[in-house]
Amino acid sequence: MDWTLEGQTALVTGASRGIGRVIAITLARAGADVALAARSEGNLRAVASEIEAIGRRAVVIPTDMSSRASVTACGHGAIEALGNLDILVNNAATFGGGAVADLDPDVFERQLRTNLMGVMQLCQAVVPHMAERGSGTIVMMSSTSGLRADPGGSAYAASKHGLQALGESLLREVRGQGVRVVMVCPSTVDTRTVSDPDSLPRSGRGVHLRAEDVADAVLFACALPGRALVRQIELWGTNP
Ligand SMILES: NC(=O)c1ccc[n+]([C@@H]2O[C@H](COP(=O)([O-])OP(=O)(O)OC[C@H]3O[C@@H](n4cnc5c(N)ncnc54)[C@H](OP(=O)(O)O)[C@@H]3O)[C@@H](O)[C@H]2O)c1
Repeated sequence: MDWTLEGQTALVTGASRGIGRVIAITLARAGADVALAARSEGNLRAVASEIEAIGRRAVVIPTDMSSRASVTACGHGAIEALGNLDILVNNAATFGGGAVADLDPDVFERQLRTNLMGVMQLCQAVVPHMAERGSGTIVMMSSTSGLRADPGGSAYAASKHGLQALGESLLREVRGQGVRVVMVCPSTVDTRTVSDPDSLPRSGRGVHLRAEDVADAVLFACALPGRALVRQIELWGTNP
């Protein structure tokens, strides 16, 4: 398989650090121009510099996924700046735990607003464009917490279970228009950024997934020919 995205364009949310940063760089290495969204403009500019050093175009779009106006502006801004949009990676999310009995309703609401409402609105901004072009790939960064729920994690799990449902409905709505929706469900990911990645153990007992593993799964789903749809990728550490 040729894992190239030459000539394609992508919008990655939550691209300022962690998994989203690595996804953005991985898509750029495969040949895509990338729009980067998150709240921290300084961090986004640093990621943009890394992408430009690869020889691809990077567009910085400061965005708050919990704000309706900001999310809509992000989707439209990415299409305008890049000229079109082939790939949307809905990766941004916020976390916050606590047993239901003690859970601050504001914490619960913020996670639903950012991790679910924001994604729905970004899809609303982008799907008409993809449907009109008859192609596009929307990646939903879910989690194994979208498939089961642990004590103390109700807010995050509720947002990711909601994302699973959103993705399933959306896929059934847009598949006939040539648009793919891919659910990616990783278990625990070690998002440490180290100057020497070789200093970290590659495998064995206690080793979690790394952001690169998730990014490669996203690239795989995006680089497959448009006729082929990966509906869901469950990604587990082999021996965590
Ligand atoms: N790490 C794991 O173990 C794991 C496992 C399974 C799934 N995931 C999923 O993978 C994705 C990335 O996780 P991560 O570990 O890389 O998280 P992270 O390091 O905390 O990064 C989260 C990203 O989302 C952005 N973000 C948060 N709130 C935002 C908001 N209101 N508006 C815009 N951007 C916002 C952050 O940027 P700013 O702060 O600059 O806005 C940041 O770029 C998430 O969807 C997460 O649920 C993670």
